[in-house]
Amino acid sequence: MISEHFDELVKTTIATLQRVADEFSPAVFASSLAAEDQVLTDMILRNKLQEKLSIFTLETGRLHAETLAVLDRIKETYGYEVTPYRPQPEAVEAYVKQNGLNAFYESVDMRKECCRIRKVEPLNRALKGNRSWVTGQRRAQSSTRAELDVQEQDEAHDMIKFNPLADWSEEDVWHYIRSNNVPYNVLHDRGFPSIGCEPCTRAIQPGEDVRAGRWWWENPESKECGLHVVDGKLIRIKPVATNA
Ligand code: ADX
Ligand code: SF4
Repeated sequence: MISEHFDELVKTTIATLQRVADEFSPAVFASSLAAEDQVLTDMILRNKLQEKLSIFTLETGRLHAETLAVLDRIKETYGYEVTPYRPQPEAVEAYVKQNGLNAFYESVDMRKECCRIRKVEPLNRALKGNRSWVTGQRRAQSSTRAELDVQEQDEAHDMIKFNPLADWSEEDVWHYIRSNNVPYNVLHDRGFPSIGCEPCTRAIQPGEDVRAGRWWWENPESKECGLHVVDGKLIRIKPVATNA
């Protein structure tokens, strides 16, 4: 459902981003280039917050062409270049040589190792030197995100983490995208509500959970890649008192 107070929700979200830029910079926004993240990208760039709150993406080397095309759409629309962070080539080579290109289907451990090399290590590099980071996570996305707060202390990275869309519904996201003509990944029109790497994401059937197409061969509990969950446990987070 679209939130009853949608306009308020938008204002509060922009205010959160503004506060990140004003009080918690240098800050970075991790964008997967999916719908939620395009909402935040639009808000950051329209409000000219990018100097203090820059945008990066983890370019794993296994993304869909449609996802990579979003980078060009952002450049055309806003004149902004999202910074790509790529895995260490030697680590990828060693993994592929030892295990094969698609070893992640074999076990949760093999999958996590691939995510570690292609996402987690580059994420750590992207976060380095910053005071806070921003994600597009929403509470309604999965059971593992049910407790998400807009502002958290990320103890794994020892920095403040903001999830400005924590309260947003999927319909709110699409309402914002359509009303503001925000460019989005065309895979969303082909049954992909949640988009990760190509070999690890598939379309879902109507009625299925929004993340059902991610690592679909695994149990729901293991379906996090280490960006927000470390060592199989949720990163220990505690809400931080706001000055609001
Ligand atoms: S994931 O952890 O399972 O991959 P999901 O795709 O739902 O996460 O995205 C949640 C948030 O994690 C995104 O809004 C974004 O902030 C961050 N994220 C996920 N994938 C990437 C990526 N490839 N590059 C940068 N940020 C990402
Ligand atoms: Fe590797 Fe799949 Fe993780 Fe991408 S999502 S890093 S391809 S295991």
